[in-house]
Amino acid sequence: MFEEAQYFAPVTADEDGSLKVHLGADHPGFADPAYRARRDALATLASNWRPGTPCPTAEYTDDEHEVWRVVSEALVTKHRAYGCREFLDGKESLGLPIDRIPQLAEVGEWLAPLTGFSYRPAAGLVPLREFYGSLADRGFWSTQYVRHHSVPLYTPEPDVLHEVVGHGNTLANPRFTALYELAGQASRRVASTEALEFVSKVFWFTLEFGVLWESGELKAYGAGILSSPGEIEAFRGMTIRPLDIAAMGTQLYDITDYQDVLYVAESFSQLEDVVGGFWATCTDDSIAEILARTPAHA
Ligand code: TRP
Ligand code: FE
Repeated sequence: MFEEAQYFAPVTADEDGSLKVHLGADHPGFADPAYRARRDALATLASNWRPGTPCPTAEYTDDEHEVWRVVSEALVTKHRAYGCREFLDGKESLGLPIDRIPQLAEVGEWLAPLTGFSYRPAAGLVPLREFYGSLADRGFWSTQYVRHHSVPLYTPEPDVLHEVVGHGNTLANPRFTALYELAGQASRRVASTEALEFVSKVFWFTLEFGVLWESGELKAYGAGILSSPGEIEAFRGMTIRPLDIAAMGTQLYDITDYQDVLYVAESFSQLEDVVGGFWATCTDDSIAEILARTPAHA
């Protein structure tokens, strides 16, 4: 199965329709019954959502709001130092609260006049086809739970901080959302699993973990770097390679730790040309041709 399956805890349904989230023994919330009950409740809430209706309201506890506050506050200066201009512009126009977790429905209302994107609540892993396909309709599948309070700096599990602080601020900028939409359209154009995984790996090394040069300084535009107060301090020390579609689509990576190989764009425009151009035109055949001449590599 694709790598992404590993960082989403498996979810099962009880007879009464309520969901159970199976955290691994190494999960920081494994031995915390209150945290586990929250995860089950939020998964159940998401599973009752029907398309076309607003995202359900998750009544967050004071402790959950506090995790959001600690991370958001830590990110204020780090974003200014290491976030790219287009991200900072998006952040400025979205104006997310720092002291409380906003509801996905609210964030969607704020995004509506900016780019028309809105969220869809995910109970757990959303299949690749559904996740990427919805981007073409300006829908972003999102988790609603918060990382465990013991790991504010980094979590291998995408949580609402990642979805809203990382992705939400980029979804507020039309230059970014044009790229998200192109990735969604590419995912719908390809039929083979190999081609879909290739499209999603290019997404991983760009919209999740991309970096770019801005006035001679290395800045982050990937949501995975921008939502982690730990990783945002570390990315400049990683192996930095030039933007390269064949290399990104065949690169192996570990989803449980900081990304140690990153691909850098010379500018946001180069990102639009190279990556936007790839998603705008790729087909099963064009990707199969790249895969035939490019071996997977670490
Ligand atoms: N590591 C990110 C953070 O701490 C969240 C995250 C988990 C993530 N899994 C991811 C980001 C996969 C991008 C892709 O905020
Ligand atoms: Fe993400």
